[in-house]
Amino acid sequence: MSRILIVGTGKHAKVVFHMLQQQGVPKAKIIFMDLFKKRFSEYLGCEVIGGLEEKTIHIPPEFLKVIVAYGGTPYQGNFQRQHATNKIMQLMKKEKFKFISVVSKDSKIDRTARVGRNTSIGSFALINSDARVGDGVIVNSGVIVEHDVRISDYSTISPGAIILGSVELGTRVYVGGGAIIRNNVKVGDDVIVGMGAVVTKDIPSKSIAIGNPPRIFERKDLM
Ligand SMILES: CC(C)(COP(=O)(O)OP(=O)(O)OC[C@H]1O[C@@H](n2cnc3c(N)ncnc32)[C@H](O)[C@@H]1OP(=O)(O)O)[C@@H](O)C(=O)NCCC(=O)NCCS
Repeated sequence: MSRILIVGTGKHAKVVFHMLQQQGVPKAKIIFMDLFKKRFSEYLGCEVIGGLEEKTIHIPPEFLKVIVAYGGTPYQGNFQRQHATNKIMQLMKKEKFKFISVVSKDSKIDRTARVGRNTSIGSFALINSDARVGDGVIVNSGVIVEHDVRISDYSTISPGAIILGSVELGTRVYVGGGAIIRNNVKVGDDVIVGMGAVVTKDIPSKSIAIGNPPRIFERKDLM
């Protein structure tokens, strides 16, 4: 029996678990792995098989579908999700497995839009015409991703954010809840957009944009 491995035992993992259940996947088909040490033996009534950073870890061969469902903080979460994904690829390189994406039944993805692997799309999110969402991305509840937008790998878009037409987001961008990004704006890699920010101009890589109009700071944690 092919089963689904959810990597992460936090709040985002719970959201992904509930979306899978909404799609009719029974608990028996799902198992969790903690990102760090095996903190729980059970999460949401499913077995936790270990921690990704433990010295010896064994992923049973029946787990052929994997999603890394770790949200984390605006500063660390995207890096940790990318790291966890790379680690899973090393651990499972000999096995036949694939990263799956989990899309809420209540979301709407236009037929011309594309969503990568290892990505989750939450309730009432809209991914409109010709938009592209990369691998390892989290698009949370109620997010609007307008036509022709590009969201690069390992980015996180928090609830209610609005990404207007043809915006380009770099790798590991974090957009806070309710932020609005004006059409055609380009946002660099490793940028954090604070909740509620109204972004009208391009933002350079490795910065934080807060407020309306946003003040732009260099990210000290990456220096
Ligand atoms: C931008 C952000 C990452 C900064 O976090 P932080 O480094 O912990 O910053 P702090 O909370 O210590 O705030 C520092 C200052 O910035 C202000 N500030 C923080 N976020 C702000 C925002 N989005 N807009 C305006 N001001 C903000 C704080 O009020 C504080 O001001 P002060 O120094 O005058 O007291 C964070 O506030 C944010 O927007 N996070 C996104 C949250 C979110 O969307 N979560 C979704 C979960 S599902």
